Amino acid sequence: MTTPLDALPLDLLRTRTSSKWTRYPDDVLPLFVAETDFALAETIETALLDAVRRGDTGYAPPRDARIPEAFAAFAARRFGWSVDPSRIRTTCDVMMGVAEVLRAVTRPGDRVIVTPPVYPPFFDVHAESGTVAERVPLRRDDAGWRLDLEGIERAFAAGARAILLCNPHNPTGTVHDADTLAELARIAHRHGAWVISDEIHSPLTLPGATFTPFLTAAPEAAEVGIALTSASKAFNLAGLKCALMVTAADGPNRVVWGIPDEVEWRTSILGVIAGQAALAHGDAWLDALIARLDANRHLLTSLLAEHAPGARYLPPQAGFLAWVDFSPLGWGGDPAARILKDARVALNPGPSFGEPGHGYARINIGTGPEILTSALERIGTLSAS
Ligand SMILES: Cc1ncc(COP(=O)(O)O)c(C=O)c1O
Repeated sequence: MTTPLDALPLDLLRTRTSSKWTRYPDDVLPLFVAETDFALAETIETALLDAVRRGDTGYAPPRDARIPEAFAAFAARRFGWSVDPSRIRTTCDVMMGVAEVLRAVTRPGDRVIVTPPVYPPFFDVHAESGTVAERVPLRRDDAGWRLDLEGIERAFAAGARAILLCNPHNPTGTVHDADTLAELARIAHRHGAWVISDEIHSPLTLPGATFTPFLTAAPEAAEVGIALTSASKAFNLAGLKCALMVTAADGPNRVVWGIPDEVEWRTSILGVIAGQAALAHGDAWLDALIARLDANRHLLTSLLAEHAPGARYLPPQAGFLAWVDFSPLGWGGDPAARILKDARVALNPGPSFGEPGHGYARINIGTGPEILTSALERIGTLSAS
């Protein structure tokens, strides 16, 4: 039984200068942007300190083998996925990778499917890639949220050129099942469309779920898919800027290696060094984080029952983001606004994830149980009033 990771104390977290800890005044508990509240894994801290001491802060060399090889070994160990390191190219971050891949596989004005409720930059990235978002919302049933494959097929048939898949899905925490992904691959293949699979949350797949890398879902998936991933979400390295573009067949591989070299040059060397340490030596730390998130997602069930009775929530299958429907409490379309104003807890507003987010808020549970409990106690003062 792995001991859950402890979070850093609140007074130390408040000395951080990142977005999570500077956006709001100190009387607000921040459980919004996707940063986590743990100390870095020791292996990462050591690798970064060593790099800083030797002034190793120049350009990451193009075709640097460190990240591709570490990721291939990580993917084999954690997902049973055999990745060819020569089919991995790095870039600055996942969203830059998404923008550049979209630019490479579409023409200006092409429609690209997005599946709300979804990570808000999936709507915004089109301003960079010159494409247009076409919304095919997820479907909700008793088991959770799933892709609307019929709606996706209709959109492809009507000319959409690609889909931005969120696998696992932010904000619902859905780990799409292998059959759904295989069918998506076949549908995209039939219509000559691309599947851009953002797998940044996959290292945080939680007990009970099995992550299927999209590129492995079906033979067609390798032909139509390009995956984007990073160590940055699991290991809290967003500021270090290193992400991976992964392919599993010659066609998509040519697309990725056809992207201008400048895109690869924007990879940060500190991101490479930290990411390599994380992927190669971070398994024990990652397991402890997963144990913490597993405990927190269930703690949130009881905290909501106690402090916001009526709120609806399905624990995530992956990641540290919880998607909560506060609409039965009558707090309006944007409960996060009321919660921020009157309970001094910052959550992500549901409507920013698209129309199905009306009445919802996203809670970041990548923290310690104490902070999560205080946040829900504060929210409880609203239910009581
Ligand atoms: C699904 C998803 N993709 C991408 C990102 C951002 O990744 P990056 O900072 O590497 O662009 C996030 C951040 O929360 C995310 O949730």
